Amino acid sequence: MSNSFTNIKQSHVFFDDASGLKNYYEDWATRYDVDLADQKWVAPRVAANFVHFLASAYGTRETTIFDAGCGTGLVGTFLQTLGNYVIDGVDLSENMAAEAVKTNAYRKVYGGVDLSEPVRDERLDQYGIVVSSGVFTLGHVRPTALRTLIEYARPNGLILVSTRGSYATETGFEDFARSREIGELASLEFTVKNANYIAEEGADYWVFRKLGKAQ
Ligand SMILES: C[S@@+](CC[C@H](N)C(=O)[O-])C[C@H]1O[C@@H](n2cnc3c(N)ncnc32)[C@H](O)[C@@H]1O
Repeated sequence: MSNSFTNIKQSHVFFDDASGLKNYYEDWATRYDVDLADQKWVAPRVAANFVHFLASAYGTRETTIFDAGCGTGLVGTFLQTLGNYVIDGVDLSENMAAEAVKTNAYRKVYGGVDLSEPVRDERLDQYGIVVSSGVFTLGHVRPTALRTLIEYARPNGLILVSTRGSYATETGFEDFARSREIGELASLEFTVKNANYIAEEGADYWVFRKLGKAQ
């Protein structure tokens, strides 16, 4: 079994252990891109293309993007090749965030942000599109973190989330996505099922729209 496969698997054991997961990524940050490329990690490219499509279909010239769990900045890097986007990112890991800064694809990147915790900061209700690639996966965040992503979107803004196939099954993500709790915050616009993600398996990509009138 290749090291890259094992390194990815070892990141899948940290459900409800944010400090263990953070430490794992702090150590992995400088080798992450190479390992993921070795396992045909296409999720950030698929997510960036989705964002570009959503911005073309529903956005305005001022659509700002929030990359939730930006990691080393792969989504921002791909997005930059598609259009002139203003992108902010957050990540649990300081070292992953530092790698994202190096891409120069982001206006601002914040490390040490835990999307599983309720947030109250100046960036809430701001973004036309919130994107999250590879974060709703085994050992990372529970489906309830979707609430946080919705908080960052502006009213009427869009939220795009990937869910690794085995994660969605194990956590019951679909039930939560269709729950009354989420329905009171956002509408589920559409889902692309079992699309390309990583060599081992596919993912679903979900698009939500935050309720409320744009200001
Ligand atoms: C598989 S990587 C995906 C990174 C990037 N979005 C990509 O597509 O390559 C998962 C990322 O989620 C971050 N992460 C995991 N749990 C998190 C949490 N609770 N809050 C914020 N970021 C988190 C990790 O630090 C890591 O950078």
